[in-house]
Amino acid sequence: MSAYSRITGTGSHLPPRRLTNDDMVAMLAPKGIETSDQWIIERTGIRARHFADDGVFASDMGADAARAALDAAGLTAKDIDLIIVATSTPDMVFPSTAAIIQHKLGVAGCPAFDVQAVCSGFVYAITVADAMIRSGTARKALVIGTEIFSRLLDFNDRTTCVLFGDGAGAVVMEASDTPGLLASDLHADGKHVGILCVPGHVSGGQASGQPLLKMDGQAVFRLAVTVLDRAARNVLHKAGRADTDIDWLIPHQANIRIMQGAAKKLHLPLEKLIVTVDEHGNTSAASIPLALDHAVRSGRVQRGDTLMLEGVGGGFTWGAVLLDY
Ligand code: UT7
Repeated sequence: MSAYSRITGTGSHLPPRRLTNDDMVAMLAPKGIETSDQWIIERTGIRARHFADDGVFASDMGADAARAALDAAGLTAKDIDLIIVATSTPDMVFPSTAAIIQHKLGVAGCPAFDVQAVCSGFVYAITVADAMIRSGTARKALVIGTEIFSRLLDFNDRTTCVLFGDGAGAVVMEASDTPGLLASDLHADGKHVGILCVPGHVSGGQASGQPLLKMDGQAVFRLAVTVLDRAARNVLHKAGRADTDIDWLIPHQANIRIMQGAAKKLHLPLEKLIVTVDEHGNTSAASIPLALDHAVRSGRVQRGDTLMLEGVGGGFTWGAVLLDY
């Protein structure tokens, strides 16, 4: 049993195919669908996103991100005794993407499973990993967020198809006597299922329903602003810390306006907000670990910094995690 779990390495993967807003304009124009670089930037802060090529799966990107995180932690996959993957875009209905990634990493035996909490998936997954490490069930965990949302997008719906992208991020979490993950606050409210969903399933060998992303953007926006602040306050209270203790806010990267609103409510200057939505779009469960890895590798996030991670998305799900990096 350990008092804490700590992040000891981060990694990420972005597919090489980068589409700017103008590329989206050009893609949608032949369908008679109008959008513009200006609209997308003003309403969302997004300038570009990455789309995976055919034949690339969430497990491929997740395994790449995991290898980078293992390198950063000075470990190999053989050292890992737990793999948790947050994804809403698994390679298969089953088995889990975590089991597939385990095999791609060339190891076997340790528990591996997926967490499905859509864009809150990563904060859910590190909370589960932390609990398993503190209970003594695991000592060295890989926690991965990996998504291929481009395959769920309805390219006839301009209100959603310009918002999302593909990518993966990963962390290694290890048992530690020093903090560490300090506190977590997770929630879900299923009555909001309809405002953000992919209403399809597999039945009799066919995709039934409408397996494309549907979102009531304004309803999600309104809920997100309220619940994120509540979760952030709860997690500060649980950890016995104040908003002034936060060095970096790393929220789910969906919309710059929601992210800046969250920073403002925590009285944080915008320089303390990690932003990757401009270059990645919304990568769902991958967005927080992707943003974290970019912030670590660019030298902004340093050892000892206190990080607030905030997730929000389909379910409706939301949550926050406070940790000393
Ligand atoms: O990852 C899970 C969390 N997800 C989120 O956090 C998403 C939350 N929601 C949002 O980020 C925003 O609501 C959106 C970015 C989705 C939309 O921004 P908005 O400021 O709420 O715009 P709106 O839905 O009020 O639409 C304003 C106008 C509409 O036209 P009218 O009705 O005013 O004539 C839309 O039809 O913008 C139009 N519009 C577009 N115009 C050009 C919608 N999409 C586009 C587009 N290009 N792509």
